[in-house]
Amino acid sequence: MKILFLNGPNLNLLGRREPEVYGTTTLADIEKQVRTAAEPFKAGIDFRQSNLEGELVNWIQEAKGKFNVIVLNAAAYTHTSIALRDAIAAVGVPTIEIHLSNVHAREEFRHKSLIAPVCCGQIIGFGQKSYVLAVEAAVYVNGSKKSP
Ligand code: DQA
Repeated sequence: MKILFLNGPNLNLLGRREPEVYGTTTLADIEKQVRTAAEPFKAGIDFRQSNLEGELVNWIQEAKGKFNVIVLNAAAYTHTSIALRDAIAAVGVPTIEIHLSNVHAREEFRHKSLIAPVCCGQIIGFGQKSYVLAVEAAVYVNGSKKSP
């Protein structure tokens, strides 16, 4: 199986971005952890980051037929992007929403996710472990063909 990890805006700054909220681990370190976690499942990993909403939309569209599951940390676009939500709904590749921080324990504007209703589940608040847990969730989702 193949899993596409997509990371939204400002996640390229992990490690030096608000370390009290997001920790000191870089996105490259997280990618390594994801690849290690995927090995026992023999799952192929593609791991990308973009600050551009349209690029994320393009990648979601292109995932059809190439990836079994998308794991998406849409970062701030989680709370604003109808375009990402529509792309996930249109393409139909099972998508798991993840976040490093517990968005529900933060500002009110982070409590609402526009993508949640079209995702098959959420993993929120476990720091870099959210990504590692998402590997197992993706394998489960692929096996059970779970959809929203
Ligand atoms: C985030 C949470 C979002 O609210 C925020 O805009 C981010 C990161 C997280 O992983 O905790 O950029 O998605």
